[in-house]
Amino acid sequence: MNKNLKGIILAGGKGTRFRPLTTAVNKHLLPLYDKPMVFAPISMLMLMGIREILVVTNPQDVEPFKSLLGTGERFGTKIEFAIQEEPTGLPDALLEGEHFLNGDPCAMILGDNIFHGRDLGLLLQSYNQNSGATIFTYEVDDPTEYGVATYDPSGCITGLVEKPQNPDSNWAVVGLYVLDSRAVEFCKGIKSSSRGETEMVDLLNKYLAEGTLESVKLPRGITWLDMGTPENLLQASEYLRLIDMRQRLKVAVLEEIAWRSGWISLAELRSAAKYFKNSQYGDYLADLCNDA
Ligand code: DAU
Repeated sequence: MNKNLKGIILAGGKGTRFRPLTTAVNKHLLPLYDKPMVFAPISMLMLMGIREILVVTNPQDVEPFKSLLGTGERFGTKIEFAIQEEPTGLPDALLEGEHFLNGDPCAMILGDNIFHGRDLGLLLQSYNQNSGATIFTYEVDDPTEYGVATYDPSGCITGLVEKPQNPDSNWAVVGLYVLDSRAVEFCKGIKSSSRGETEMVDLLNKYLAEGTLESVKLPRGITWLDMGTPENLLQASEYLRLIDMRQRLKVAVLEEIAWRSGWISLAELRSAAKYFKNSQYGDYLADLCNDA
């Protein structure tokens, strides 16, 4: 793992598809089963071994995120916040991370994406980006709502299109991008698309054009869900609930990941259990302490 790989979570946007749920609340704070949605991307970055994380969000939403996450120390990380004044696109949001990145590469994750699967963090840790960019794709039934990648017969990526009406493949680009230190500079040259936003595919196409874009097909056994609509969020919640009910395993429990990674002590885990007492989340942490 590249020691300097930092994490960026994009948690801005208007949340239009969730209105009126998002009239007063940021989408990424809505409930994903028993925890806020943003715990999913945070946990993914943590499983990749990333502890320095920037949350980019709207001006009015910084305070609620701070109340929820604090400095991140409670779960062994260092969390900072940056404001995107207007949700003008994903590359624009990445630009807000320039100061935080300070010339380091990053793993950028969309705040409404959730990943789950055995050893996924370990798999992703091998992509650490000293040069170029890595994207991950996932075969879906209907890719028209996503960025779509095409491949040549030898499996090399040949093209990327955002939300095509007639896609040439079923490989959707998931919302996790590992980018080298030049990404911010590349973003500066990107113009708004006909949708009125800067597009992630325009950034990725710069890497593709110079031959430094790696595309990894996520294997069977990995689950990727985008929580971009109320229906999708409910499906993701049901998925987590099923795992919880069936296996008594909770997904995206930040203190658990921190403790298993050796970033917080058993005593700190115990105090988190106390802090969350009278909730299922707290009971789960208490059970972990008792089993330790
Ligand atoms: O989920 C994967 C897809 O995410 C990719 O396949 C697409 O290539 C990529 O463009 C993106 O498409 P979406 O239509 O899902 O993007 P959306 O506008 O919903 O934004 C994704 C997240 O980023 C969302 O949680 C809000 C946040 N965001 C969005 C914009 C436009 C920001 O923080 N700032 C922004 O300016």
